[in-house]
Amino acid sequence: MRLDAPAAAPGATAPAAAPSADSLATEAASLLDAWTATVTERGDREADWQLATYDKLPLTLVRGDGSRVLDASGRWYWDLYGGHAVALIGHAHPLWAAVVGEQAKRFTFYSNVVYQPLRTAACRTIVEFAPKNLTRVFLSNSGAEANEVALKMARHHTGRKTVISFDGAFHGRTAAALAVTASEKYRNYSQPGLSHTRWATWGEIPELDDDVAAIILEPIQSLNGMRTATRAWLHALRAACDANGTLLILDEVQSAWGRLGANFAADLYDVRADFITGAKSAGGGFPIGVTLVDEAVADKAKNGDQGSTFGAGALACAAILATHHVLREEGLVERAKAVGAYVAAALTAVIPNVELRGYGCLLGVKLDQPVKPLVAALRDHGFIVGGSDDPHVMRLMPPLNVPFEAIDAFASALAALLASIPASRSPS
Ligand SMILES: Cc1ncc(COP(=O)(O)O)c(C=O)c1O
Repeated sequence: MRLDAPAAAPGATAPAAAPSADSLATEAASLLDAWTATVTERGDREADWQLATYDKLPLTLVRGDGSRVLDASGRWYWDLYGGHAVALIGHAHPLWAAVVGEQAKRFTFYSNVVYQPLRTAACRTIVEFAPKNLTRVFLSNSGAEANEVALKMARHHTGRKTVISFDGAFHGRTAAALAVTASEKYRNYSQPGLSHTRWATWGEIPELDDDVAAIILEPIQSLNGMRTATRAWLHALRAACDANGTLLILDEVQSAWGRLGANFAADLYDVRADFITGAKSAGGGFPIGVTLVDEAVADKAKNGDQGSTFGAGALACAAILATHHVLREEGLVERAKAVGAYVAAALTAVIPNVELRGYGCLLGVKLDQPVKPLVAALRDHGFIVGGSDDPHVMRLMPPLNVPFEAIDAFASALAALLASIPASRSPS
């Protein structure tokens, strides 16, 4: 088969010179600006075109830079919500952007039917970052998908059907992930069709029988107000799983990748999981789902058990490697720990009765009043923070390299707001 370009026919005109990298970058920037401007000129709204399934903040963002994001009117905000716990190394990290951009120019995508050195490097990097018993990784595109893979593999491996999940759980919006998600708000849309889940009480050891394939839980239930598991409970769950041949799935979609000040919650709690699932932070903003698999299960996986066209594509692998490089070079896992301590000190200094939940850069701030109006008021003061399903808990999930000045400014703004709107206080 000929792979070289055919020779030019005699008398053919010479091909036009390829545009320079500089001129292409200029053209790309002007196209991006023009596409953005068209929306303003036409007065288009997302709801005119996007399926209206999201409850959106009143924010139109156009750029990010580290821990700050810029809105369409030219106002910068401190992003203490981290783009929904995604911006692990900050927005538009220059090295990350350069690596992903360079890879896009070299080779954008080929599926898993071929080998690619970057895929090998990305998988090795993830496995080396993970607890030692998790010796293989399956890459997909989202947190829900990562959980689907773990649930499916756990059932297949054990030959059992039942999965135990806990009140307050959130594991994603696909069918199997929703089946182990507790809130009716999320589950109702998919009924009927969710089955083989047994519900258990958070903090208790469920009864296990010979049909229980797996227990799934988030070590920290972020959406549920940063409800944090205790070490003793996690270890007792592990022991119960071992005694019953049940597998333990830790959903670390929010807690992984150093966000807690440890690589994974499994490291922080020193508990062995048969699967750890991740997503959000894994690619520093590139969509990636990660299912880490224990050696004993991985050894039995075979051809055809699982697949994903886009999983482990070249751009995704470049994003994973760039994110890990920055994490290492900037010492961000340690930094996350420092951020957690700094937030705790800053808030307790100015807000009496504040309760801090979580660790590192995955924090819940429990107040003795509903946080919804505060979240909105903070936005007006230039801070993006999150609410949660607990009306009294505000969530902070900033980039691990968030500057301490942002935390100081946030603590002052929150304290001033609490002093200025006592009328909104309600009993806790
Ligand atoms: C703990 C947890 N698991 C799973 C998911 C689902 O991830 P995704 O939205 O990427 O499918 C989320 C999303 O917020 C999550 O917080």
